[in-house]
Amino acid sequence: MINDEILEQVIKLIQSSNFIVAVTGAGVSAESGVPTFRGKDGLWKQYDATQLATPHAFKKNPKLVWEWYSWRINLIREAKPNPAHICLSKLESNGLLRTIITQNVDNLHQRAGSKNVLELHGNIFRVKCTSCNYKAKIEKAPDQIPPLCPKCNSLLRPDVVWFGEFLDVEILHNAYSLASKADLMLVIGSSLLVSPAAELPNITLKHGGKVIEINLDETYLSPVATISIRTKAGEFFKALCEKLKL
Ligand code: OAD
Ligand code: ZN
Repeated sequence: MINDEILEQVIKLIQSSNFIVAVTGAGVSAESGVPTFRGKDGLWKQYDATQLATPHAFKKNPKLVWEWYSWRINLIREAKPNPAHICLSKLESNGLLRTIITQNVDNLHQRAGSKNVLELHGNIFRVKCTSCNYKAKIEKAPDQIPPLCPKCNSLLRPDVVWFGEFLDVEILHNAYSLASKADLMLVIGSSLLVSPAAELPNITLKHGGKVIEINLDETYLSPVATISIRTKAGEFFKALCEKLKL
């Protein structure tokens, strides 16, 4: 159940802010049936990240890495945006939310209609060549695994950021800049254990902005956030958009 008083406080903050940014993590897609990484039933409890989501793992066994990504692509393809994705999209189209900065690669914010989405960790529905500059969108898992570049015949890889890799400099710069400008940041469904995404709420707080956290579990942010709410993101945003009549 969402506490009505807290909902009113959130609405007051939203209505009195001019530059609202959302930071999302795997928890925002959990109610769509997309597994998180570290929560209960998280992927990293079942699978070894070092064997599946590092450049070294891909070099060693591209077929295994692609099998795992194909499984995830097919699973995510079947998933639908939930009320959290939908409400965030409505907040944007009503001029209340500037941008979503997401760590998710699942495309669900865009499928819910959000236009300004900064993808920190790439997108699982894109591939890129390991040798040349070829990049392409994909709609389903590749028929042949591992897939090869149509331009140069080298291996194609998912266009996502793996452990041990740097984020795109321009995207990261934009994210820092948005976080420093935000007078309100909504941090939704992230364990905040992976940097640099985890730093973004601190940047907002340091610049005098307010931060609202919506997460099932406590994070480092919970004690310092302006408001920290222990609720499922989908349930919270369903109630919020209903209350805002969006
Ligand atoms: P995590 O799996 O680390 O954290 C998900 C968070 O969402 C946890 O704190 C859960 O308690 C919370 N949660 C679960 N279900 C929820 C729900 N319905 N509503 C609200 N909160 C819920 O995911 P991220 O923080 O996104 O990176 O992980 C960050 C990065 O680590 C990912 O982008 C991925 C991963 O390894 C790469 O692969 C590079
Ligand atoms: Zn190529």
